[in-house]
Amino acid sequence: MSGTAQKQHGPRHVAIIMDGNGRWATQRGRPRLFGHHAGAKRVREIVEACPEFGVKYLTIFAFSTENWKRTQVEVAGLMSLFRRYITKEAQALNLEGVRVRFIGDRVRLDRKLTALMDELEALTMANTRVNLTIAINYGGRDEVARATKRLAEDVAQGRLSPSDVDEETLPKYLDTHVLPDPDLVIRTSGEARISNFLLWQSAYAEYEFIDTLWPDFSAAEFGRLVARYGQRERRFGAVPG
Ligand code: IPE
Ligand code: IPE
Ligand code: MG
Repeated sequence: MSGTAQKQHGPRHVAIIMDGNGRWATQRGRPRLFGHHAGAKRVREIVEACPEFGVKYLTIFAFSTENWKRTQVEVAGLMSLFRRYITKEAQALNLEGVRVRFIGDRVRLDRKLTALMDELEALTMANTRVNLTIAINYGGRDEVARATKRLAEDVAQGRLSPSDVDEETLPKYLDTHVLPDPDLVIRTSGEARISNFLLWQSAYAEYEFIDTLWPDFSAAEFGRLVARYGQRERRFGAVPG
């Protein structure tokens, strides 16, 4: 990607910070978990819209390393929602040709959930239509720290020389090592921050911060954002050409 500026067509990889479930529920006088359930229901439509928009990779932020700070009721409710979601959606995702991967630190997740995550990854391993990556207990800084730890182990074991560590080497240790960098990062709910999502990978991503709360996000809006991306010029530090 060096040299001249690039006129883009569609984004190959879109990452979404699915925010606003709590406010959506509160606006309706319902508990926050009601919003999380409504939010989970939106995922299918967005995944199914990907092939039509030329999106090969979709990465969604479901639970951050900071989200453990929420009440025990909300955290437990979310973990149970993830288990139910995987169980319920597995067949449909597989039939749609979706390959599912998970990123984030699994160590703190319960065994029942990680077993379901492993099963879904294995079930969908041969699929190629859409690559869906779900970030659970994911934090960009945590990911870089875990990657650095493994890289340091390789150096200590003599498998890697410090002089070989560069911009190509480090990302091989990230959870996302098999994925291209995101081209477009969308955050719903009006907050203009990235909250520790894909820090390394999004260095040159285009961003869209939109007011829609996640449970109201639709394939139509997704399509508009994808189209708008196509009109932007990404320069990667070069002069427009
Ligand atoms: C995003 O919605 C989902 C998670 C972080 C798990 P929020 O729960 O953050 O919703 P708001 O921001 O409180 O509205
Ligand atoms: C980011 O949303 C994490 C997810 C969408 C899973 P948060 O709602 O947790 O982020 P902050 O707290 O507003 O930064
Ligand atoms: Mg939020």
